[in-house]
Parts: sequence; structure tokens; C-alpha cells
Amino acid sequence: MAYKLTINGKVRTVDVPADMPLLWVLRDELDLKGTKFGCGAGICGACTVHLNGKPIRSCITNVSAVNAPITTIEGLSAEGKHPLQVAWQELDVPQCGYCQAGQIMAAAALLAKTPKPTDKDIDGAMAGNYCRCGTYLRIRQAIHQAAGQHEMEGRNGAPGKPTPVAAGNGNGRNQK
Ligand code: FES
Ligand code: FES
Repeated sequence: MAYKLTINGKVRTVDVPADMPLLWVLRDELDLKGTKFGCGAGICGACTVHLNGKPIRSCITNVSAVNAPITTIEGLSAEGKHPLQVAWQELDVPQCGYCQAGQIMAAAALLAKTPKPTDKDIDGAMAGNYCRCGTYLRIRQAIHQAAGQHEMEGRNGAPGKPTPVAAGNGNGRNQK
């Protein structure tokens, strides 16, 4: 069946089964390979794109359910100069890089809604995006930098104190 999708501001038509996940439409039909396959089950966040500005898991979103414009990492900024992309580069956030497109898309949705996020805001918005390389602290720092907040907040809310690494796992991710 043919579907007309607005992807990164352009109307694209694809002829695919109704139950094809958006992720495969993006990667295999439209050659937009910035969006990654991780778990395929809506858990890891590697496949995060925006549906009308909201982050969604493209691996569990059937193409037939797409009813609004989609933005992928390729469409976040025409020249890769979104403040998050700049901060990501300046702070060398990625390690293997596999999760990072999804991380940036989740962060972009957060900043669109909350331009000056606290650590708590960031942790809440990013909790569903996993990074096996443990880049969580740099991700948080880059989001603050992109938001124009050069000092990280302490957990007690005091400005200017770096957030301590969470005890136990060594990667700065809260373990609940
Ligand atoms: S690949 Fe979609 S959430 Fe993991
Ligand atoms: S940078 Fe390797 S999984 Fe996140």
C-alpha cells in the first residue's frame, strides 16, 4: 500500500506493507540510515525520531500509524549545526556512537519543551535512551551546554557544583 509521509520537511511516498515499522521505512526505503536499530522492542531508544516534535520509537511504530510530520537526525539541522550537535562534538560525547542519534533526538525534544532543563529534567527525559558505552554524564553536560547552561547543577540544586557520578555502576546513570 502507498503511504505519503512528510519526512524532514519533504513529502515522500513509499509502497510498503501497513505493518512495516517506520524504522525500516526510513532506513531501507528512504536510505535515511542515521536512525539506528537497537532492540527492536521499544526499549533502548536507538531508533528515536520525532513525530510532530515528540520523540517516538520508530521500531514499534507501524508506517500506517504515522499521521504527522517526522523528523530524523538527518533533518534536525540542515548543516548538522543544531546546538546539541555542536555541543556533542565539542564535548566528544559519543564513544562507539551507536546510540547517539537517538540520544540527540530525545534531547532535542526535551529542549524544545524545556529550554533550560535541570539535571532531573534531563534524567527524566533521557531515561529511556540506553548507552552501552556509558556516556551519560557527557550527554547530560552537552545538553546543559546546548541550553546555554555552562555550569551543571548539583543534586541539591546548588548551581556550579558538578553532579557526582552515581555510586555503583561507574557510568553516572542512576540505577533504580
Ligand atoms: S530499536 Fe527501537 S527502542 Fe530499541
Ligand atoms: S556511545 Fe556506544 S552505545 Fe552509546
